[in-house]
Amino acid sequence: MNKITVIGSGYVGLVAGACLADMGNTVICADSDKYKIKLLNKGNIPIYENGLENKVRQNVQESRLSFTCNSEEAVSKSSIIFIAVGTPSLEDGSADIKHVMRVSQDIGQHMDGYKLIVIKSTVPVGTGRKVKETISRILKERGRHDSFDIVSNPEFLREGSAVYDFMNPDRIVVGVESLRAEALMTQIYDQMDKNIPLIFTSIETAELIKYASNAFLAMKITFINEMARVCEKVGADVSQLALGIGMDKRIGADFLEPGPGYGGSCFPKDTRAIVKLGKEHGVALSLVQQTIDANERQKLWVVDKMTTVLGCLEGKTIGILGITYKAQTDDMREAPALTILEKLAKSGARLRIFDPQGGKEGKWRLQSIADSIEFCASEYDAVSAADALVVLTDWVQFKSMDLAKVYEIMKSPVFFDFRNMFERKYIEQNGFAYVGIGR
Ligand SMILES: NC(=O)c1ccc[n+]([C@@H]2O[C@H](COP(=O)([O-])OP(=O)(O)OC[C@H]3O[C@@H](n4cnc5c(N)ncnc54)[C@H](O)[C@@H]3O)[C@@H](O)[C@H]2O)c1
Repeated sequence: MNKITVIGSGYVGLVAGACLADMGNTVICADSDKYKIKLLNKGNIPIYENGLENKVRQNVQESRLSFTCNSEEAVSKSSIIFIAVGTPSLEDGSADIKHVMRVSQDIGQHMDGYKLIVIKSTVPVGTGRKVKETISRILKERGRHDSFDIVSNPEFLREGSAVYDFMNPDRIVVGVESLRAEALMTQIYDQMDKNIPLIFTSIETAELIKYASNAFLAMKITFINEMARVCEKVGADVSQLALGIGMDKRIGADFLEPGPGYGGSCFPKDTRAIVKLGKEHGVALSLVQQTIDANERQKLWVVDKMTTVLGCLEGKTIGILGITYKAQTDDMREAPALTILEKLAKSGARLRIFDPQGGKEGKWRLQSIADSIEFCASEYDAVSAADALVVLTDWVQFKSMDLAKVYEIMKSPVFFDFRNMFERKYIEQNGFAYVGIGR
């Protein structure tokens, strides 16, 4: 079995580390955030991710998984190093690779023998080459001649089902430039289900595959959001439309659920980054740019829908159910709720918010409208005396709300279901006015 270090212990790194340990490897998860490592060393998981806590705990107990914030230890103790640090957006939309470059310097500084360096972070084309140049330069300065390989191995997991996705990907993309790297990567992933296709490409192609995938998925979501708007105008039903087009194998049924716009830590930043990359190379990625613009409009469109139904929002109390960008995560990065709630607050509405996991991060991300919002302990607390309720995230627990009770405690029974979680008939039977998306 291998000795592996994963640098960056966030949503991707911690999941990758725990899963690689679970496959039998000895794994060190490293992070520069001392608080995070302290938590992990005490047995606490800093993020909410289904199934992760058990996997981490079990592998720590069986001495296959450990944590450190010491970069020298992280580099010297393993010959395989995964880089899974963040690559957030810069002001101009491009991806900020400073954390990846910082880690490359650390690797160059502490390298003492062959290393396989696997870039898991989503990085612009050319980053693998920059990492290689940085490490070579530092080794030269140190007068060392250690050999190393760079691999691009983008990650496609989804938050909320990250552990399952890591272990059961549709494919594994590996960009390599040496047979040694190819053999090592084959051996690492050989421990997984043999039916998972392993696709070997150049490093540049692997880097671009990740951006192209996310841009395509963002386009697909945006397409169905726009179809939902057409449906409303012509009296069609978007759920049936999605079923009808999704059964065509060339289209596929996934990512055809309309909502208040996509968000999260990947689609917004990755679509911006690929547009910027195109521009840098003289290629106008107009479809992706239109997707970004349409997604911004979608968030405002749902606010307009509310205004049309409720009239002036000044002084209205609105119960907000869910604020994370999707269910089963506590991640609030670029959640559509951030824009929507800000708009509602600016229109004078008072917002009572409940989210099963997003409250902690939501509180600091919504500081600018702190005077207009209140975080509540349950869905019932949030809708109490409200003029309307809005489902913004499809947490499964909302499905089993006692609607008779909700009707009883609300001031006025208006039900905005911006995830199309509920059947119109069911909500209307319980006495509410129902507003979904595209139906
Ligand atoms: N979150 C997802 O769903 C997802 C899915 C696929 C790919 N990705 C990509 O994976 C990468 C990581 O994403 P994430 O969501 O896990 O980010 P994250 O912010 O949750 O985690 C990144 C971690 O890296 C650490 N870090 C930063 N600089 C460091 C350094 N110099 N040394 C050690 N640690 C350092 C941070 O402290 C943080 O804990 C990004 O490029 C992202 O685009 C994310």
